[in-house]
Amino acid sequence: MTPAPAAYLERQRQLRAQPRHWLVTGAAGFIGSNLVEALLKLGQRVTGLDNFATGHQHNLDQVRAAVGEAQWAQFRFLRGDIRQPADCAQACEGVDYALHQAALGSVSRSIEDPHTTNDVNITGFLNMLTAARDAKVRRFVYAASSSTYGDHPDLPKVEGQIGNPLSPYAVTKYVNELYAGVYARCYGAESVGLRYFNVFGPRQDPNGAYAAVIPQWVAALIADRPLFINGDGETSRDFCFIDNVVQANVLAATATAPDAVNQVYNVALNQRTSLNQLYGLMVALLRERFPHLDQHRPQYAGFRAGDVRHSQADIGKAAQLLGYAPTHRIEEGLAVAMDWYVGSLTAR
Ligand SMILES: NC(=O)c1ccc[n+]([C@@H]2O[C@H](COP(=O)([O-])OP(=O)(O)OC[C@H]3O[C@@H](n4cnc5c(N)ncnc54)[C@H](O)[C@@H]3O)[C@@H](O)[C@H]2O)c1
Repeated sequence: MTPAPAAYLERQRQLRAQPRHWLVTGAAGFIGSNLVEALLKLGQRVTGLDNFATGHQHNLDQVRAAVGEAQWAQFRFLRGDIRQPADCAQACEGVDYALHQAALGSVSRSIEDPHTTNDVNITGFLNMLTAARDAKVRRFVYAASSSTYGDHPDLPKVEGQIGNPLSPYAVTKYVNELYAGVYARCYGAESVGLRYFNVFGPRQDPNGAYAAVIPQWVAALIADRPLFINGDGETSRDFCFIDNVVQANVLAATATAPDAVNQVYNVALNQRTSLNQLYGLMVALLRERFPHLDQHRPQYAGFRAGDVRHSQADIGKAAQLLGYAPTHRIEEGLAVAMDWYVGSLTAR
């Protein structure tokens, strides 16, 4: 592990000294629940909003167990839907910083049902942006996505150069950035977009048709089920451990330099890992505990519609303007995540 960067340590110190009120939308989801946990551990007041479309009560229960009752008392949960303006307005009351994570993820889901993805990811986003503006939230940090790079061929990806979107999901995430920019120009509403690249870590859902690759594979490996690699396995991604994402959110919300605000940033490692390499890393971490993996072999399936071939982030902009520096490389993050999945999947 690399030590946390100075900017992050300093911001944590300031927040502990002067706690703020944060809103985390999508609080019962993977990234949202990790943000809630980190903020409560920093002594912050947190409001969470979620409609449990893809999130789970058990994620919030785990946060409660992790932070203890005294810090949990600083958390207020609202069950609500970002498609409802009144729910968004209620959630933003008295909030200093909003971390907007609620959305329907998954490229495949959006190809099967573009309308619902549009309603949640665009109308819901606009509702939240408006509610944050009206409640005078100091800054609106939102989950953007590496899918916005679409078919642009260059690697690594730099924020200013994007291609054509390859899925309805990618359209929605790009429209988020456009609306955030317009709200800054028309209303002076401050925002920061974080283009996450394949985030992974504890509490990422291994179940369902739209599960992400790492949780889907770890569940298959532990249960000795067939595991499918889409394409030839040389498709690559910049897999980013959740702690790096938490750091980016805190830095983005609290950045004071004027040129750091109303921007979008890549959040990843600048490290490219192929699916074949990922499979090898995961098996190596699990083999001792699951000897059946000596015999396990992946199966290769067709390429998936809407998938980009390679993805790798240039993280220079976040490093320079936010002071972001990832603490966990993929191997380090995977070790933490595998331990968590072994505990969680074998306990059920
Ligand atoms: N995980 C990744 O690799 C990744 C990559 C790029 C961007 N993102 C973005 O990060 C954010 C969080 O993703 P995640 O991986 O934690 O997914 P997740 O599905 O675990 O979390 C999303 C949460 O939003 C909630 N939600 C969905 N629709 C809602 C609605 N209408 N009203 C209120 N809550 C609603 C869900 O119930 C869920 O708890 C999303 O915006 C996603 O698009 C994630």
